[in-house]
Order: sequence, then structure tokens, then C-alpha cells
Amino acid sequence: MTSQAVADPAARNGGTRRIIVMMGAPGAGKGTQAERLAEALELPHISTGELFRAMLKSESPLGQKVRGYVESGGLVPDDIVVAMVEDRLDEDDAANGVILDGFPRTVAQAEALDRMLEQAGTAVSAVPYIEVAQELLLERLTGRRICTKDDQHVYHVLGMPPQKEGVCDIDGAELYQRVDDSAETVQSRLDKQLPPMFEVIDYYADNKVLFSVRGDEPAAEVTADLLQALSSKSAVA
Ligand code: AP5
Repeated sequence: MTSQAVADPAARNGGTRRIIVMMGAPGAGKGTQAERLAEALELPHISTGELFRAMLKSESPLGQKVRGYVESGGLVPDDIVVAMVEDRLDEDDAANGVILDGFPRTVAQAEALDRMLEQAGTAVSAVPYIEVAQELLLERLTGRRICTKDDQHVYHVLGMPPQKEGVCDIDGAELYQRVDDSAETVQSRLDKQLPPMFEVIDYYADNKVLFSVRGDEPAAEVTADLLQALSSKSAVA
């Protein structure tokens, strides 16, 4: 782990709602780790990328509007993202807390999240930042494969391969490659999305809820580091 414990998340929220915001570059392992934390902490995993991909599949008018941004590796406009997250946070399963993956991605989104949480009498509890060297991100993303039946079953052709090539271990469905995981689009995602991500990291560092873990370790070790930091009771002053 590259930095130490975070303020007791539950305490920040009066012991009730736990809002964990996963930060990291595209391909850092946010989705992989959010899924594991969701299971360990019994909180819903909310991925804005997944919400957008579901929208694209449904061919809804909003889906048509966001397609260009998602497929070219750009950021969807803040007003669309914020409205979508606000609706999702109002759902019953989010009452005890959530693990946000892929949101916020701009300072405007972070401020909007603070406002919506404040109205609900709560605040961001912890912001784990999964740090991975940029050289590794291209390899991670171009080698990623995802289950056609459940987007949350994620593999890597070299690092985390399924037992049978092209087939999900969990439900036997075919694996696919995301349209934005081509080498060209990955580079565009990194170019467009890293600068605003660093601004959001500064925003949370100022609020003292941010802590870092190394994302280039095996996934199980990253999970253990995250859980240890999240359960720590010692505050960062
Ligand atoms: P989104 O789906 O959020 O994409 P992303 O942030 O680019 O993140 P990824 O899903 O690509 O990576 P990840 O960090 O989750 O890594 P993963 O765990 O899969 O968003 C998609 C698009 O939607 C955006 O580009 C944008 O257009 C739009 N969007 C979404 N949110 C938005 C917002 N808030 N505002 C505006 N637009 C928004 O891991 C990657 C690979 O590495 C996998 O193959 C995995 O198996 C492997 N791996 C993971 N951990 C390890 C490990 N420790 N060791 C070895 N391999 C590992």
C-alpha cells in the first residue's frame, strides 16, 4: 500500500451510509476490485460505465445520445452522468451505502455528488485510488474479455484467463471484447480521461478521504490491501 489508513468511513457518516468511491485510470482494476469489495462489504457496486453500456444495448434515446462519447473514449457530459447517478442512488438497495466505480470523473461531478449526499445527510466515506503505471494500462485493456451474460465477470487473456478460452468460468457464456478496448481507443481514453481524473484525485486529497493502493499486485493482494485500509480506524490528519 502506498499510503496509510483512511478516516473511519462509518464515523464520517454518523455510522450509517457508506459511500466508497473507486478511483483509478481506465484499466487500473476499479471494476474488478469494486466487485470484490461489494461482496465483502455487502454493498451494491454501481458502475457508470456499465449503466451506459446497458443504455447502448437498449437503444434508448439517451443511449443514442451517449454512444459517440462512450465508443470513442470521451467523457459523457456531466449533466447526463449526474442525473443518472442521482436516480441510481435513490434506489432502495443504496440505502446503506454503495461502491461507486467510474464516478465522479470530473471535479464538477465530484461537487455534484457532494451536494446530493449532503442533501441526504451523508458524505463520501473513502476514496481508494488504485495506482497502476500507464505502460501497464494498454496491456490490461486490450487483453480484457467480458462475459456476454453478466458484464461483471471480467477476465484478461494473459493475466486472468478463463479456464476455457473465450468462455466464462461462472456461467459458460461466450466472452467478448469491449468496443472501446481496441488499442487506438484505449490511447484516446487515456489522453482524454487522465487529466480530469488527476483533478478529481486532488479534490479528494484536499478532503482527506483519499488513500492509495498498488494496483500492479495480483488482484487478491489488491483486495486485501483495500479491505485493510477501509477497516482501519486511524484517521489521516
Ligand atoms: P468504464 O466502464 O468506467 O471504463 P474505465 O474507467 O475506462 O474503466 P475500465 O472498466 O476500462 O477499467 P477498470 O479500472 O474497471 O479495470 P478492470 O477491473 O476492468 O467507462 C466506460 C466509458 O463510459 C468511459 O470511457 C466514458 O465514455 C463513459 N463514462 C463512464 N463513467 C463516466 C463518467 N463518470 N463521466 C463521463 N463519462 C463516463 O480491469 C482491466 C483488466 O485488467 C481486466 O482484464 C482485468 O481482468 C485485469 N486486471 C484487473 N486487476 C488486475 C490485477 N491486479 N492483475 C492483473 N490483471 C488485472
